[in-house]
Amino acid sequence: MGRLEGRVALITGAASGIGLASALRFAREGAVVVGLDVQESASRDWKAVQDAAPAAAFHVADVTDEAALAAVAREAVAAHGRIDVLVAAAGIVGGGPVHLLSAQDWQRVQDVNLTGVFLSAKAVLPQMLLQRSGSIVTIASVEGLEGAEGGSTYNASKGGVILLTKNLAMDYGRMGIRANAICPGFIDTPLFRSVVGADTFPEQYRERIRDQHQLGRFGRSEEVAGAVLFLASDDASFVSGVALPVDGGFNAGHHVGLVDLMGLGGQS
Ligand code: NAI
Repeated sequence: MGRLEGRVALITGAASGIGLASALRFAREGAVVVGLDVQESASRDWKAVQDAAPAAAFHVADVTDEAALAAVAREAVAAHGRIDVLVAAAGIVGGGPVHLLSAQDWQRVQDVNLTGVFLSAKAVLPQMLLQRSGSIVTIASVEGLEGAEGGSTYNASKGGVILLTKNLAMDYGRMGIRANAICPGFIDTPLFRSVVGADTFPEQYRERIRDQHQLGRFGRSEEVAGAVLFLASDDASFVSGVALPVDGGFNAGHHVGLVDLMGLGGQS
């Protein structure tokens, strides 16, 4: 028996990275997965989800489009009778120092990363309120917990996601609905590979960022999906309103390398 047996889960950003890894993990744990993304999923990726959960469905939809989200939620309810879990993983990068950032670039990131979470929650809440149960898991970031050089709109959007999630936990807790945010560290996904993981990104800065993870490495999508599963499942039945770092210790403190002096610097 899977940890999400028979649960219906809507996952945004399901074509790639953390959303895709969550879809796959959920399917293997018995959930009916309804994925959505602004881009088509690579057929091989979604086939793996469907192999594990034959009822899984995928929709091309934009999280900034309220009507499209409502239609996906309506279809999920028509097909499966309920929505138990929302995983709001769709997101984009963007930013730069404020005096160089155009208002359009600021707004584009806010629209997808913050308004997209608001609209995704709005799409599933009517059904969760009818059921008087549900679990909402948002994907924020360690960059929503503290600043980052040049982060500006991205950090502001992720800080907003954390507080929006806490407010969801407050407004709907007495209706049996939990809401929690996950704050990943740097995770090796296509999004990461387009910036910090890109060949053009200077290696010395990549190393410094890697060093801030006390485990001394970047994370994997599957490691975030494990935490998403926990928060979505009944194992977290008394957990609501948290912002959970899944970050290899990024948030624990600043690494300056003294562990090397103590003989604790390497794996070997
Ligand atoms: P990814 O790029 O691999 O996956 C994100 C997915 O969201 C893509 O499939 C993309 O098409 C989709 N998406 C983008 N805009 C959309 C829209 N308007 N409507 C619907 N779907 C849309 O990225 P990754 O790394 O898996 O990111 C997932 C979430 O995790 C994002 O919210 C990101 O900000 C967050 N995150 C990622 C970290 C990392 O290091 N990879 C670190 C901290 C947070």
